[in-house]
Amino acid sequence: MNARERVVFPLDVPSLDDAERWTTLLGAEVGVLKVGLELFTAAGPRAVEAVHASGAACFLDLKLHDIPATMAGAVRSAAALGVRYLTVHAAAGPAALAAACAAAAGTDTRLLAVTVLTSLDAGELAAIGLMGAPDEAVRRLARVALDAGLDGLVCSPQECVALRQALGDGPLLVVPGIRPRGADVGDQRRVATPSEARRQGADLLVIGRPIRHAADPVAAARAIVRELEEA
Ligand code: C5P
Repeated sequence: MNARERVVFPLDVPSLDDAERWTTLLGAEVGVLKVGLELFTAAGPRAVEAVHASGAACFLDLKLHDIPATMAGAVRSAAALGVRYLTVHAAAGPAALAAACAAAAGTDTRLLAVTVLTSLDAGELAAIGLMGAPDEAVRRLARVALDAGLDGLVCSPQECVALRQALGDGPLLVVPGIRPRGADVGDQRRVATPSEARRQGADLLVIGRPIRHAADPVAAARAIVRELEEA
């Protein structure tokens, strides 16, 4: 993977028109454009087609969590759209994860697991019956996902080092919460710069507002790619 292919820009917008403005601007600058629940619910597969028309790969961030047969069907549909990355919740359990992997086998779609949403603290985890520290739940769910055959995980910069040590070089680690030095941190609590995240073992970096809110988003994306090339 070259530096450009490691940069994921999230299309966190509500409509296809908005998405197409960003795919046109950034499709040649970053390797991957992420379509999340907001955009996919509004625009459906046309959002994925817009990403592909721009030349970038598509990361379909649907965080699937359902019974095995439904998970398998959704993964088949996503793979038929040609998406490169698709997210599922590790908490869907071993059988559903195995069904998802079987459905993705032989396609170009890589499955990534979400472990514990970073918006959940220990109190909220206890409220849904997950006792113990969040990082223990992250490690447990990461193991469940990789044992089922998933290709990688979404994790915070803070989890990256421990997961890389625990899991080895195999799994793809996809990391949001990236802020180039001097950028506004916003609502992210745990951040790393692009080169720090790479050193900590991140493979793909999800970078939204530092590009979207920049006076010159193309220049901001190029600066991030340059930083990664030099890292
Ligand atoms: O604007 P920013 O760089 O913070 O965007 C980060 C992206 O990564 C958003 O699309 C956000 O939903 C996503 N994300 C995150 N933290 C997680 C999981 C996903 O920020 N734990």
